[in-house]
Amino acid sequence: MAKKTVKDLNVSGKKVIVRVDFNVPIKDGVIKDDNRIVQALPTINYLVEQGAKLILLSHLGKVDHKDPEKTVSDKKKNNMAPVAARLAELVDVPVKFCDVTRGEALEAAVEALKEKEILLVQNTRYEKGESKNDPELSKYWASLADLFVTDAFGSVHRAHSSTVGVAEILPSALGFLVEKEVVALGKAVHNPERPFVAILGGAKVSDKINVIENLLTTADRVIIGGGMAYTFLKAQGKEIGTSLCEDDKLDLAKEIMAKAGDKLVLPVDFRVAAAFSEEADNYLADDSAIPSDYMGLDIGPKSVELFTKALEGAKTVVWNGPMGVFEMKTYATGTIEVCKAISSLPGAYTVIGGGDSARAAIENGFQDDFSHISTGGGASLEFMEGKELPGIAVIQEK
Ligand code: 3PG
Repeated sequence: MAKKTVKDLNVSGKKVIVRVDFNVPIKDGVIKDDNRIVQALPTINYLVEQGAKLILLSHLGKVDHKDPEKTVSDKKKNNMAPVAARLAELVDVPVKFCDVTRGEALEAAVEALKEKEILLVQNTRYEKGESKNDPELSKYWASLADLFVTDAFGSVHRAHSSTVGVAEILPSALGFLVEKEVVALGKAVHNPERPFVAILGGAKVSDKINVIENLLTTADRVIIGGGMAYTFLKAQGKEIGTSLCEDDKLDLAKEIMAKAGDKLVLPVDFRVAAAFSEEADNYLADDSAIPSDYMGLDIGPKSVELFTKALEGAKTVVWNGPMGVFEMKTYATGTIEVCKAISSLPGAYTVIGGGDSARAAIENGFQDDFSHISTGGGASLEFMEGKELPGIAVIQEK
């Protein structure tokens, strides 16, 4: 990689903005999964060891700036304070929290920073200009520091002030997490040992269309499960009942299937239910027998067998998206079984492209059974689409 990394910077005694992705799930002030914070620790600890003064910037959730009432409630909901508290438990140096994103309090907190200290700034999306990559905001944040490091892999697909604008102004480098993600995902997507099998799931074809098309050009097999499979089945003329379907994508699905031929593997049976609910009447049905008033909410055992067979002998596997509504126990089996099948492949390089499939693997205890689990959701999808990621592109070359 020709980009500078944090090791190329002389950070001792310098104020370093580190853009991290601390967009973690929080419920009632309690962090439900701190993986993204943990994954940023190598860069944070390295900068601390080198005697830097760290200014951490991250977004958390979304803040609506159009409706004033919503702005207030979003800010309340997406306050970074619990993240600062968790970070303080994970590092050995003082963590200060500044609950504003600009102004005297922030400037004073930055000035007071000593070497080896960390200042976490309030949610960058408190600022209306953040998501618009507002030049004035970027200039202001850049004025607080000497150097910029991006370690927010989950956010590198966003051209925002804290991911791109500041990096255009300050000398910049990649952090260890971004470097690790790019190498790990790149190994699978750009230089796979074959056979290379991709498994894609999730609700919508429209979210994954570019990934499907790109992977069909590079992978030896592409397996499709989850909600988006029903659009393909309907395009084949099958009865899918009330299952999720994007009717405006039927022609596209037909085109993809025609181009893909044998490369594309679709599920053949499903757990169908009378309603989108754990308690609804549900049973297993073949793809030729989904009743008109039932919806498919998970793949069935014959599909798991078919997918397991399609995975046999794979040397590289990329997985993105659950096979069913895995948040509901009744419909989680397909996702768990696929997770087991991938993780038990002998000698294969296995990557989960973040998001819901990463959550499913981690929640079910498979986190150590994959070669790499990405911290990115949208970012890893865009990486797999072969797109340039603006938060990486902006970083200085060596
Ligand atoms: C993510 O959770 O995928 C990243 O933190 C990016 O979040 P965003 O989609 O709100 O920009």
